[in-house]
Amino acid sequence: MRVLVTGGAGYIGSVFVRELISNGYQVSVIDRFLFGKETLEPLITNGDLEVIECDLRDADKTKINLDGIQAVFHLAGLSNDPSCDLNPRFTFDSNVGGTRYIADLAKKAGVSKFVLFSSCSVYGTGKGTTLTELSMLNPVSAYAESKVQAEDYVKSISDKSFKPTILRLATVFGYSPRMRFDLAVNLMTLHALRKKRIAILGGGKQWRPFVHVRDVALLCTQLLQEPAEKIGGETFNVGSNDLNYQMSDLAALIADLVGDVELDFVPDDEDKRNYHVCFDKAKDVLQFKPKYKIKEGVAEIVEHFRVVEHQLTDEKYYNIQVMKSHLLTPAILGGEPIRREFLPFALPLLGTEEEEEVIDTLRSGWITTGPRTKKFEEKLAAYIGALDCLAVSSCTAALHLALATLDIGPGDEVITTPMTFCSTANVIEHTGATPVFVDVNPDTLNIDPALVEKAITPRTKAIIAVHMAGYPCDMRELSDIGARHGIKIIEDAAHAIGSTYEGKNIGTISDFTCFSFYPIKNMTTIEGGAIVCKDQSYMERLRRLALHGMDRDAWKRYEATGRPHWYVEEPGFKYNMTDIQAAVGLHQIDRLPAFNQRRQLIAATYDDAFRGLSGFGRPDYHDSKRQTNNHLYIVKLELDQIEISRDQLLEALSKEGIGTGIHFLPVQLHPFYKTKYGLDEQSLPISTDLSNRIFSMPLYPKMTDADVLDCIRALSKLLSYYSVNVATKPEVRPGTKVVR
Ligand SMILES: Cc1ncc(COP(=O)(O)O)c(C=O)c1O
Repeated sequence: MRVLVTGGAGYIGSVFVRELISNGYQVSVIDRFLFGKETLEPLITNGDLEVIECDLRDADKTKINLDGIQAVFHLAGLSNDPSCDLNPRFTFDSNVGGTRYIADLAKKAGVSKFVLFSSCSVYGTGKGTTLTELSMLNPVSAYAESKVQAEDYVKSISDKSFKPTILRLATVFGYSPRMRFDLAVNLMTLHALRKKRIAILGGGKQWRPFVHVRDVALLCTQLLQEPAEKIGGETFNVGSNDLNYQMSDLAALIADLVGDVELDFVPDDEDKRNYHVCFDKAKDVLQFKPKYKIKEGVAEIVEHFRVVEHQLTDEKYYNIQVMKSHLLTPAILGGEPIRREFLPFALPLLGTEEEEEVIDTLRSGWITTGPRTKKFEEKLAAYIGALDCLAVSSCTAALHLALATLDIGPGDEVITTPMTFCSTANVIEHTGATPVFVDVNPDTLNIDPALVEKAITPRTKAIIAVHMAGYPCDMRELSDIGARHGIKIIEDAAHAIGSTYEGKNIGTISDFTCFSFYPIKNMTTIEGGAIVCKDQSYMERLRRLALHGMDRDAWKRYEATGRPHWYVEEPGFKYNMTDIQAAVGLHQIDRLPAFNQRRQLIAATYDDAFRGLSGFGRPDYHDSKRQTNNHLYIVKLELDQIEISRDQLLEALSKEGIGTGIHFLPVQLHPFYKTKYGLDEQSLPISTDLSNRIFSMPLYPKMTDADVLDCIRALSKLLSYYSVNVATKPEVRPGTKVVR
């Protein structure tokens, strides 16, 4: 008969698997070997043992095959109440998710016996002295709650042919090849031996039942012989009535057995468990009478202690130590990822209003530029405080139109920042003019006005200033420069809808301001953009150039009062926004204030959480005259404080389940601009230096509070782990010891 034991390398598993093999069973073990492989190593060459190394949460990928398996003993999971409280999500994922997976698989494969290992911990602070299998459950830890949920799950899928058996174990003790010294009897014995002292936490009056690990293995082996009808669908408490102890009595007994030991009463204990359990059912139905008493367990540990004494600081004996270490180790090095479901760097937040408006638009028959685009333009202009506004297909289109409207072309120069998305520079190229890149202020990442002034020549026609991450450029300085030299200012406000400068909305300051409504922007129209002008005389030409240079748009031609004739007055572009896009935008603009508020809250939460972490830095956004809309949360790493590069950190974050962005690889480092303008790393040293240090964390209203917390945990974990400062660094490298 082939038996599958999940968690077969663990404290119970490694005893049970040996018992099975010595009784002639063929055994398959699934284990992720979080605590090492040594416990099964002597058996690995045994032809009756098959070992499958995997985490049940990843089991889909490994395609576990249960063909030929007659019984499954599901031990795998996280155990020990305090260590499971360290990261409840990890606990639930493992204990409930793992159970779901293996129970579903066993049911599908027609496995005749399925045994789930649960715990008497499910009784928690159970009242009374006769907690039976029918008593109310009262879990008081993540571990116990996860066991309740695992029990509920297997019961929920139980049917005529699949009837799981649930074993609620008393606290296990005794020697196992995978030794644990975080179990009450084992730990008290260890302390009695080493410290000559046993601490009794929480007053000692609390009850706890115990069972020897070999008795558990014997019972499980017996279950293989029992008829399926007898045990299927049943829950058994596993222990014996006479091994219910109050903790102070247990300590006194162990002190007595070891000899010359003091008892130390400590009033507090975070562990609130207190249960006195009745084991009559296992005794009556299965004739289960545990052979081993506390005395035998203590004797074995005393014996074992001599062998392992020198190793007893080793974290592997304490689940909580291993767990702490595992949780603090970067996922890229084999630690537990902060989240298993990847959090994308950015996502739009769209509601039913947008959905319904799009459907209405589709059904209306007018799907390209029309009444909704007009309404969107009105709403947007009102939001910005502009007189008019032109909605277009993208911010790139808006920037191109601004340059075209100014008749900028070959022979002209346009000054801009290298720290931007490529479209800012590309549109200058499209006009035939020459982009002149001026480096940024290292604190704000925005174009440095002092350097702008130096770059002006008689050919300079315009300056395109980009409000990086939504933080406004120094518009007073730039406007003064523009006025002094007769140069037009175009604001690339792709990031900056809702930002303000000296109390004025971005969009009300310069000759031209261009916005983006790309999906990851603060509001979206799927793709889309808009342009506003201080000087309204530009608007007519902008509109014309946005639609082929025609003197009237389709809506004006085809509406009831429209005329069908039109003329091209100059060759224009095809940059119009559609009514489908506007349908989305009409509701996004309503949500924008709330979106921006949420962004602000997340950014402030990040600031508080990350301040002081090794390697963490931020652009300087402290000028109160400039209010950012928090489009991006840019981190500016101090690379000398951490042991890894920005790109390695981003890869490590991705393994923790967190998506990131880079804003931006500066334009001079893109091959086209590098080659065409002979730019190199020295040409624009500030943005070049920043380019290896900056990255953006997720920051968007669709993020839940839990998502935000995950981002905080992930970056904090990695910056602490990779800190060059040994004082702040957790000692959790795999293979090294956790220092307590
Ligand atoms: C600074 C900057 N300018 C321009 C653009 C172009 O916007 P769009 O995709 O709407 O053309 C972007 C887009 O990300 C941007 O970040």
